[in-house]
Amino acid sequence: MAEKSSNISGFYKLTVAERLAVVKEYAGLTDEEANMVGNTGALPTDLVDRMIENVVGTMPLPLGIATNFQVNGRDYLVPMAIEEPSVVAAASNLAKIARKQGGFHTSHSGSVMIGQIQLVGVSDPHGTRAKILQHKADIMSRADACDPVLVKFGGGARDVVVRVIETMSGPMVITHLIIDTKDAMGANAVNTMAEAVAPYLEQITGGRVILRIISNLATYRLARAWAVFDKEELGGDEVVDGMVKAYHFAAADPFRCATHNKGIMNGISAVVIATGNDFRAVEAGAHSYAATSEGSYKPLTKWERTKEGHLIGSIELPMAVGLVGGATKVHPTARVNVKILGIKGANELGEVMAAVGLAQNAAALRALATEGIQKGHMRLHARNMAAQAGAPVEIVDEVVRRLTELKKFDFGTAETVVQQVKKERGLK
Ligand code: MEV
Repeated sequence: MAEKSSNISGFYKLTVAERLAVVKEYAGLTDEEANMVGNTGALPTDLVDRMIENVVGTMPLPLGIATNFQVNGRDYLVPMAIEEPSVVAAASNLAKIARKQGGFHTSHSGSVMIGQIQLVGVSDPHGTRAKILQHKADIMSRADACDPVLVKFGGGARDVVVRVIETMSGPMVITHLIIDTKDAMGANAVNTMAEAVAPYLEQITGGRVILRIISNLATYRLARAWAVFDKEELGGDEVVDGMVKAYHFAAADPFRCATHNKGIMNGISAVVIATGNDFRAVEAGAHSYAATSEGSYKPLTKWERTKEGHLIGSIELPMAVGLVGGATKVHPTARVNVKILGIKGANELGEVMAAVGLAQNAAALRALATEGIQKGHMRLHARNMAAQAGAPVEIVDEVVRRLTELKKFDFGTAETVVQQVKKERGLK
């Protein structure tokens, strides 16, 4: 039999339904499987088809709401889109503990992004740098001219920074356009400006521009949060001590630190996705900031004890998220999620996300420093199994208890236990 070819001519020109039919045939999907993929849920098919290329359907994620968040004295319900169990419950639990000592307090450094322009082929990089800076005002007005709407809303060019870097191809002159993108994440605005300014830089310097692109290491767009977690609520002095030592472990060891920061991003990325923002940009910003802000890869959070012995946590990371432009305004569910959050500006959104990251990290450290995370995961998993095995609501807790006792969480055991409990209680 001839090998199937993925070289499908004109695939992009087909309708969504036609593309799905091609894939169905290619992969031998059943009707049920094809319908599952082709179901676009809350997204009208023509909208999905305009959002990306070669669309055949959508890939839904569970959407949960984290409760208990109080940020700067205001309450928030936080939508989180994520496939991983325990994350939403964990954030909600630790947000509840934080409430006792006043909730989360946040700040931000602005909504300013960096656009990079790479200039090569100059024999005098430092002289070139000086020439570029001499034309700073001109460069800024050329950038502003690209986006009068942004300028009208108070955004636009704020500064020009020029760096000389050593590379494998010799010195390069890197110009940073420093742009306030206000309520937009800003990639489109910044990339357009970088492309527009580039020929002018070539003209001033006689060099050659290669790349013109936003930097995700958004050091001028930091969100910060801090909160005090009551020691009694956390489980006492020993738990607090374990959590601080868990943080010290991460601060001393990049292998642990990667996982520590991953746990923070469990919370943040879930909100980033729920609000239709670019989670890759936020992840790149977070990890590059963790790797550079203190010289080597470090935790994005810090954990200490207050003089009363409570646990105080703080977090700082780049938060390139927006409310205008991008999928946030286009995706109907993202729009509703922004409404649930009751957020009015991109900076506020970034701050709430930072608070979620802090709560998420606190939850992970507490679980790790006490019972370990598997027990909680397994409890949730057991609930899923019980439900799938047909347990009516009134016996779910008992089924979960027995599965936990047996330390068996597979479907077969769940079915047997459900039947046992039903029989004992005379349930059909
Ligand atoms: C799992 O998704 C996240 C954790 O591994 C985070 C951590 O170890 O801090 C629990």
